[in-house]
Amino acid sequence: MDSRYSLEENFQNRIDNEDKIEPRDWMPEAYRKTLVRQISQHAHSEIVGMLPEGNWISRAPSLKRKLALLAKIQDEAGHGLYLYSAAETLGTPRSEMIDALHSGKAKYSSIFNYPTLNWADMGAIGWLVDGAAIVNQVALTRTSYGPYSRAMVRICKEESFHQRQGFDILYTMSQGTEAQKNMVQDAVNRWWWPSLMMFGPSDTDSPNSAQSMKWKIKRLSNDELRQKFIDMTVPQAAVLGITLPDPELKFNKETQHYDHGEINWDEFYQVIAGNGPCNIERLAARIKAHEDGQWVREAAVAYAKKQNVKNQETKSIA
Ligand SMILES: [Fe+2]
Ligand SMILES: [Fe+2]
Repeated sequence: MDSRYSLEENFQNRIDNEDKIEPRDWMPEAYRKTLVRQISQHAHSEIVGMLPEGNWISRAPSLKRKLALLAKIQDEAGHGLYLYSAAETLGTPRSEMIDALHSGKAKYSSIFNYPTLNWADMGAIGWLVDGAAIVNQVALTRTSYGPYSRAMVRICKEESFHQRQGFDILYTMSQGTEAQKNMVQDAVNRWWWPSLMMFGPSDTDSPNSAQSMKWKIKRLSNDELRQKFIDMTVPQAAVLGITLPDPELKFNKETQHYDHGEINWDEFYQVIAGNGPCNIERLAARIKAHEDGQWVREAAVAYAKKQNVKNQETKSIA
């Protein structure tokens, strides 16, 4: 803390020096608000993201596949928990964040509003959706808020397992019958573009980007992250022997990156606005799960109260 500078300047100096900001440190209100919005939105995405895949646990083609999918979906619940806890360190109670999700005020990743039509979709989600999540989350391990960055380190380790299990599903199917190969191609055709949209609109159309970059909440721009994902994924598509559904996708020798076609942002904004194929279904499932779990929360609170009384009694005896 240098008294020649204002609180705000000291804060920015710490960020510039790559210091992590911790829960009890002074921070601008807008930094706190941005983080609560971003981390809770991330947490919501983890738990809503369990729904499209949960549908396939009972339909997995073998015990091994069922176990892997189950473990993956449980990991996502864990990611939600770490992230709600990280957001709570900023002073917003979890119940408030959950209410915002249920009332439609808070958003979650648009990708989870698409349907999962067959088993190949489990492969495509692991490979593409978790693959995109990794690119985003590896960058976030260097985010300026300590609890968020530390949560990301563990989450990234689990995400790489998710991506591998997805790729393994697709690879196995791609070695199978013609019908199975067609299923792989069909699933990838449906998930490719929505996966690219996961990184959000181009930075020129993303109003909070510049401030988030200055505060190092964000470390790379949406377009940079998207490009990293594309560059990483195209060679993997070749291993699967599939075509990515973009005729303009080609390697640019000058930039050493893949050029890609125009993203349909109208579709993205439609899904964000609640008009995706599964928005209503997803939110209804979340609200039902929350209501069905009410008795568990009540029982936990009652048990904690009882334990408290017991501890007090033991203390007063001693
Ligand atoms: Fe996750
Ligand atoms: Fe994941």
